Amino acid sequence: MAHCTNSGNQLRNFVKGSNLLNTMPLIGQKKGADESVQSTAISTVLVLKGGIYMQFDDMNIKQETKNFLKKNGFTVPTEVQEKVIPVASHRDVIVQSRTGSGKTLAFLIPVFEKVERGNFVETIILVPTRELAQQVERVSRGLGKEHGVKTLAIYGGASMERQIAGLPSTIVVGTPGRVMDLMRRGYLHLKSLKFFILDEADRMMDMGFLDDILWIMERTNKDKRVLLFSATMPGDIIRLARKYTKNPEKFILSEDEITAKGVVQYRVNVGEINKMAKLSALLDSEPGKYLIFCNTKRKTQEVADKLRRLGYKSYALHGDMRQGMRTRTMDAFKRGDINILISTDVAARGIDVTGITHVVNYDVPMYPKDYVHRIGRTGRMDRRGKAVTFVTHNDETYIRRIEDLIGSRIPEMKLKGVGKIRERIDYREYSDIYGMVRFHFKLRRELSEWEIIKNIEKEGVDDNAIGKIDVAKVQGTIDVHYSSAHRIKKVGIFKNIELVRRRYPEM
Ligand SMILES: Nc1ncnc2c1ncn2[C@@H]1O[C@H](COP(=O)(O)OP(=O)(O)OP(=O)(O)O)[C@@H](O)[C@H]1O
Ligand SMILES: [Mg+2]
Repeated sequence: MAHCTNSGNQLRNFVKGSNLLNTMPLIGQKKGADESVQSTAISTVLVLKGGIYMQFDDMNIKQETKNFLKKNGFTVPTEVQEKVIPVASHRDVIVQSRTGSGKTLAFLIPVFEKVERGNFVETIILVPTRELAQQVERVSRGLGKEHGVKTLAIYGGASMERQIAGLPSTIVVGTPGRVMDLMRRGYLHLKSLKFFILDEADRMMDMGFLDDILWIMERTNKDKRVLLFSATMPGDIIRLARKYTKNPEKFILSEDEITAKGVVQYRVNVGEINKMAKLSALLDSEPGKYLIFCNTKRKTQEVADKLRRLGYKSYALHGDMRQGMRTRTMDAFKRGDINILISTDVAARGIDVTGITHVVNYDVPMYPKDYVHRIGRTGRMDRRGKAVTFVTHNDETYIRRIEDLIGSRIPEMKLKGVGKIRERIDYREYSDIYGMVRFHFKLRRELSEWEIIKNIEKEGVDDNAIGKIDVAKVQGTIDVHYSSAHRIKKVGIFKNIELVRRRYPEM
């Protein structure tokens, strides 16, 4: 499993044009966990030694950059790097390329072709989260060291003094809020920019961020390159992006299949009350490094706490935590000290953590794009990974939208094993749009519909909770509201009574 990323990259080049990828267990093909999370075969990689593909050494880039790449074991550029690096230093670009395909270096290398050790901010890179700002700055710092160029990360929740002390730095990576703050206070000037970069550009140009981005952009010099990168670049964003770029070159590298190639995707049908039991069963049957997404901060914390009570070493990451704790948690996850991280979408975009074997959507994301980014935290740079999405019957519409976006159906996975808690029947999962569930019953003796209702009411079931009854002699069906379904089984008139397990996907 622990092949170096570069070998994986060489393999990518190798499989270009070959059928090898088709033989791997991708979406729709069932394979055991162990197989699906394993990295690619090293033997095929070794065949390529000396490679027939372009190497960084053959590229027209500065020697300092080459030194950095060599030190990090990167020899072969990825597709996005090979295509974008020669262009982006002198032309605006709009780039769509899969998660984990190496976009960070695809914009940083061109930057280092042009920037100098001046006393001005020459590059601003805007990103949506603090963790991503830290991560991208760390890569720039590595390159900056070779080039003797100063870099700085600025983001909220951390000491402003320290960030101010670092200004001006040639390259600044930041989140919009803190960038604006420092601009307003007069510490950050962006009038000498060579590059204005939006990583996760579609997110940055979404409503919510767009006003901030435009505010910042208006206060920059006109003659600069604008570089926009993301794994998802919907048409409306590209149209919008055209307004803020000059004669850009568009690179749409994976429009048809936007999810990372190495990620096997599954859905698990489960009601809300059994999600914890299912998660526990998954964690026990397929040990690995897990990133688990919930839709709210509160739920993220709850799931982490519950897992911990069950004996799993799990930690939460969300926006209500103090930044120091957020940073420590992310660093521990990166180092491998933490193997189960429960997060909101703060960890969905751009975060590069080696060795994540599983991404779990404990909740189905509201926006289909978020699904692509979340599951892209695994299967990076030709590694394998598994994405498991928990689907309640209320989520069917969302799942369908996701499937439309990724262009394929997500197959169901049946979980083996029981985990640390027992599942209960989740009547809600079998209810129709009115919340009614159906039971088949056999009576001990013939009774009228009215008598049946009276007996059920005696068990404390409200009249309103009882729906349609069909009875012929001693057999029949009855509809009951899911909130009262557990009571119906206790009613003495039934010889036996059984839930009709039907799912109502059409909500
Ligand atoms: N040429 C290369 N050879 C080998 N590994 C590389 C190469 N370029 C980048 N990598 C590694 O690949 C990983 C993914 O890169 P990166 O984070 O830039 O992907 P990305 O395209 O930005 O993904 P996302 O859309 O999730 O942000 C990183 O660990 C990076 O160090
Ligand atoms: Mg990225």
